[in-house]
Amino acid sequence: MTVGTDQELIAAARRARRHARAAFSGFKVGAALETVDGVLVSGCNIENATYGLTICAERVAMFKALSEGHRRFRRIAVVADTQAPTPPCGACRQILWEFGGDLEVLLANLRRAQGRHRLSDLLPLPFDARLL
Ligand code: THU
Repeated sequence: MTVGTDQELIAAARRARRHARAAFSGFKVGAALETVDGVLVSGCNIENATYGLTICAERVAMFKALSEGHRRFRRIAVVADTQAPTPPCGACRQILWEFGGDLEVLLANLRRAQGRHRLSDLLPLPFDARLL
């Protein structure tokens, strides 16, 4: 699937959110990642009974994309049913940075877009492979 506008990317994240497996927190999140070629890969959070093996929507989207051979990315949209925007957690920021670089991060709830950030602003002074 290919996308164009912010609204289309956010709409894809909202659709993905419906598939969230959030039986323990009840907190459903959807994400949609856009490659440089305009291909869209979505993800949702997936929890399980051990809690600790939970994986966030953003990482599901990124790992799906990588496993399908995508390597260069432009943007990611994240949607949750909150008043204030739900930004990616620390673990997701690290993974998005290492595999996606300085992505544009769009945040929205179920009604409207609420934020636009660069990943480099959300993860200043990152640790990555350049330091190894
Ligand atoms: N979660 C995400 O999927 N993405 C975020 O950006 C924040 C948190 C998930 C993890 C867990 O399933 C639930 O939301 C509550 O933390």
